[in-house]
Amino acid sequence: MKTKTIEPIKKIYGNISLPGDKSISHRAVMLGAISKGRTSARGLLDCDDCNYTIRAFRDMGVNITKEGDVTLIEGVGLRGLKRPASPIRVGNSGTSMRILAGILAGQDFKSVLEGDQSLSKRPMKRIVEPLSLMGADIEAASGDFPPIRIRGGSLKPIDYRMPVSSAQVKSAVLFAGLYASGVTTVEELVKSRDHTERMMKYFGADIKVNGLKVSLAGGRELDGKAVEVPGDISSASFFIAGAVLLKDSRVTIKNVSINPTRSGILSVLSRMGARVKVLNKVDAFEPYGDIEAEFGPLKGIVIEEAQIPGMIDELPIIFVLASLAKGRTVIKGAGELRFKETDRIISMKENLENMGGSVIVGKDEMVIDGVSQLDGAGLKSFGDHRTCMAMTIASLTAKGESSIDDVECVNKSFPGFFEILEGLKK
Ligand code: S3P
Repeated sequence: MKTKTIEPIKKIYGNISLPGDKSISHRAVMLGAISKGRTSARGLLDCDDCNYTIRAFRDMGVNITKEGDVTLIEGVGLRGLKRPASPIRVGNSGTSMRILAGILAGQDFKSVLEGDQSLSKRPMKRIVEPLSLMGADIEAASGDFPPIRIRGGSLKPIDYRMPVSSAQVKSAVLFAGLYASGVTTVEELVKSRDHTERMMKYFGADIKVNGLKVSLAGGRELDGKAVEVPGDISSASFFIAGAVLLKDSRVTIKNVSINPTRSGILSVLSRMGARVKVLNKVDAFEPYGDIEAEFGPLKGIVIEEAQIPGMIDELPIIFVLASLAKGRTVIKGAGELRFKETDRIISMKENLENMGGSVIVGKDEMVIDGVSQLDGAGLKSFGDHRTCMAMTIASLTAKGESSIDDVECVNKSFPGFFEILEGLKK
């Protein structure tokens, strides 16, 4: 468990390309594996989480190989997965566990999904409930936690109104819906990331989106496709923030996903007064573009609950931006942060307060009062990749040296984070 010392720097400057989007990468492997024919995914993210998804399908008889930057997935069709010889281990990957559960619910064999210590404390009742309603025999430890035991089989469609806003839950139901005999409908409270809907449509599923409602007709085989995975906007957000916060900085990040259900950080930055532009937009099945960010002053804003799903993974770095903005930022309805790799409300509050920031946590909202500069401090990643990367950026802007423990946790989503950052330092 490596501790890293982080010295403040003057600025970051340059052009970069980032590894593929994590959410899109998981779905490309999953849909590719259960489609007919070959899927070739260019730019698939090579990180711990996505590698757990790949391993899971290999364990179920799917041939997945790599040629340069293209991953080839030889799909076995909806009914072609084989019973894995042992429990499927997904490490720290909540996306693997929750969406795989939906696929396994439709299989005519028994399976077990296991996670590491941290994932074993994250809630699974949210998928166990709808998958049980669809007829799967599925159970989680103490009713809510991994491991999850599944005896899949024939599923019936449901009309499901989601009690939480979660793309993983929506996706678990939709993937199970591929195996159901009829039309499954999922209705969300607030729109969450729609990568599953977009990719299922691209692979030929009979899927319709009507506002907050998604309907999917089960039973139709899908066809393997060529998928271009754009850069991950969640990873990009750390460099965007670095450029915005450090005087005289400018960074251009090529080919980043700008899916509107994922890019809430861009509207937050624009409302805060940041100088951030999207250039060269391409409207593919997942839209992407180049993001250019430069230094400029920020002001505090109010973020409403309905905006949270579109920036859920970017909230740690938004807390850093808010801590260095002029005035007060109020963030409403961010309670889902308590169920991430760590409780990100606690991890970020504790770290930012150690640096002299001001974070007040109320029942339903967080209030961050900006300071002119943070102080270097001893910081904790809590084993959480996004806490670690957000606090790294905060440390670069600080007065005095900082240290962060257990920095290897960035490998979960972004193995090259520190190297790319090094290349931008001027
Ligand atoms: C993800 C959905 C979000 C997000 C996670 C990835 C996905 O989780 O935080 O990093 O790929 O569907 P929730 O569904 O729990 O909100």
